[in-house]
Amino acid sequence: MFTKAIAAILALPLVAQFVSADTCTRTYTAQAGDICDSISAANNVSTYQLAVVNVGIIDEGCDNLVVGQNYCLGWQGQDCTTTYVVQQYDDCYIVSSNAGINTTILYENNPQINEDCSNIYIGEVLCTANTVQVPPAPSGTTPATTIPATATPANPDGDLPWCDE
Ligand SMILES: *[C@@H]1O[C@H](CO)[C@@H](O)[C@H](O)[C@H]1NC(C)=O
Ligand SMILES: *[C@@H]1O[C@H](CO)[C@@H](O)[C@H](O)[C@H]1NC(C)=O
Repeated sequence: MFTKAIAAILALPLVAQFVSADTCTRTYTAQAGDICDSISAANNVSTYQLAVVNVGIIDEGCDNLVVGQNYCLGWQGQDCTTTYVVQQYDDCYIVSSNAGINTTILYENNPQINEDCSNIYIGEVLCTANTVQVPPAPSGTTPATTIPATATPANPDGDLPWCDE
């Protein structure tokens, strides 16, 4: 009986852990030549979401992909599949208005974008859904804030007010 009680107590944290565990809804098997943004663009997963879902698995510079390894692309209930690949000269107003959304929701789904939108780069994949669909950033970090060394900023001057005049 004593043993049974202990077993019941021990089972509690396990149940809680199971319920809060993130369920992967789709995966991708890495192939030679892949980079994070090509995987994202081909699978309708945002750059930010791929980074969050793989925190501790894919490093910040995305230079540790292993060919043949399966990577999770999205978690159940937190999986944005409405995406857009950034082109040259894009800024946050252009991306939002083309997607029919406001910039508030664009920033909420893509928290790595800086305040003046000057750090989006060509080939980056943004979530352009009209509701918040991506997982929150792990506390104290914002994944995918670094522009890859080989990337070209789409609009290095950002959304500067005097550009609208
Ligand atoms: C990505 O989204 C586009 C546009 O909605 C769609 O045509 C395409 O089939 C999607 N690709 C995947 C892999 O889901
Ligand atoms: C932006 O769009 C969302 C979704 O439609 C809406 O809930 C929100 O009120 C809008 N925010 C602003 C500042 O317009």
